[in-house]
Parts: sequence; structure tokens; C-alpha cells
Amino acid sequence: MRIIFFGAPGSGKGTQSKRVGKKYNIPQLSTGDMLRNAKKQETPIGLKASQYMDHGKLVPDEIIIGIIAERILEEDCDDGFMLDGFPRSKPQAEALRSMLQAQDIELDSVIFLDVDFDEIVTRLVGRRVCHSCGEEYHIDFQPPEVAGKCGKCGGELVQRPDDFEEQIRVRLKSYQELTSPLIEYYRDLGKLDQVAASGDFDEITKRILLALEK
Ligand code: AP5
Repeated sequence: MRIIFFGAPGSGKGTQSKRVGKKYNIPQLSTGDMLRNAKKQETPIGLKASQYMDHGKLVPDEIIIGIIAERILEEDCDDGFMLDGFPRSKPQAEALRSMLQAQDIELDSVIFLDVDFDEIVTRLVGRRVCHSCGEEYHIDFQPPEVAGKCGKCGGELVQRPDDFEEQIRVRLKSYQELTSPLIEYYRDLGKLDQVAASGDFDEITKRILLALEK
């Protein structure tokens, strides 16, 4: 199974792709997580990427395409993968198409998580992440038991540098300009499955699984 989780920042790509990836036992490949790990380890790619990410801008196509081209060739991707956050531009989509063609592989579905921008801002402004283990919380929807402390490891909860309102606006603008044209791109290829992605987490997972089973 080769699936893309597609949608605006904060539409639930990470949350839902992890759930579906577990169900099908295939890896979830998040370009955002890969870049944040590279930044934490202070690799040259991580340091370069953070100059874009921290301001809400997209990282240049050549960096991200190179990362995914290597990653999908790893053994754990033999039976499939779920892409979370890639592709985000026409050149990235074209590059992915070539990569899959080279391996004689078909893309199964592009799950488009559809959420209002107002809701997205509320989700992202309230998100808190554990500085140590990466566990995610939301100050209203998923609060930690002790304010500011991770319930899993006791680490400090922080706000992602790109989860402040100004950076969120930049991310949504990039999405509108560079990423949203891919909705038509994948619709024209007959691959798009649009899913209403507001409301209960479990309900949304059910809608996605239903779309995939079709
Ligand atoms: P990335 O980490 O991928 O950020 P993003 O796309 O902006 O996505 P988010 O992780 O913020 O949101 P999501 O859609 O995964 O939603 P989530 O499940 O987390 O990328 C970060 C940066 O890296 C980019 O800005 C860019 O700079 C760079 N980058 C990455 N990929 C790139 C690429 N291909 N090309 C160029 N640059 C790239 O949920 C968000 C929040 O909402 C959570 O708090 C969650 O708990 C909550 N939530 C989820 N579902 C619900 C629900 N149903 N109800 C209420 N709250 C919900």
C-alpha cells in the first residue's frame, strides 16, 4: 500500500497517518519529523532546513526530494508506506511519480484531509510538544495532567517555533499557493480521496479506512 496523507498544516496528517500506519503495519514517513530530527542532531541538512521551517516556509524541493528518494528505498518500505507531508509542491509530486515509476509501483490513494483554516489555527496555536520524547498535547483538547509537563516522560512541554500565529499564517499561505494545486493534480489522476477531517479523532480514522477499503 502506498498512500499519501495530504492536507493543510494542522489538518491531522501526522495523527491520522500514525493510526492508519499501525493498522496496516506499514511505516509512516513524516518529512516534518525527519527534518526536526536532523535539526536536533545539527546535521548540515537539519541546520539548513531550520532556516525555513522555523519561519513557516517550505524547505527547498531538492533537499526534501533527496531525503524521500533515499527513504522509500529502505527495506521497511518494501510492502508499502504512508507519506505524511510529502509532496507539497508540483516538482515534488512529479519527482515522486518518477521514483514510483522507476520501481514499477502504483500509488494507491491520496487521502485529502479537509479542515477549515479557522479550526487549523486553533489546533496549532494550542499544540504543545514534549522537548524530550516528542509526545504531543493540546492545551484544550488534549491537556497534560500537570501543566507544562509531559505525562509520558516528565519532559518540558514547548510550543513549536512554527506554531505561533505569525508563522502559522505563513504556512497556510504557502499551502494555498504551492501545495493546494496538488488537489487537482491528484484528482485528475483519479487518486484523490477527500475526507472531512473535523471532529472526533476515531470517526475521522473510520472515514479514512472506509475510503482506503474502497
Ligand atoms: P510538518 O511537521 O509536516 O508540519 P505541517 O504540515 O505544518 O503539519 P503539522 O504537523 O503541523 O500538522 P498535521 O497535518 O500533521 O496535523 P497533526 O496531526 O500534527 O512540517 C513542518 C515544516 O517542515 C514545514 O512547514 C516545512 O518547513 C518543512 N517541510 C516538511 N515537509 C516538507 C516538504 N515536503 N516540502 C518542503 N518543506 C517541508 O495535528 C495538528 C494538531 O491538531 C495536533 O495538536 C493534534 O492533536 C490536533 N488535531 C488533530 N486532529 C484533530 C481533531 N480531529 N480535532 C482536534 N484537534 C486535532
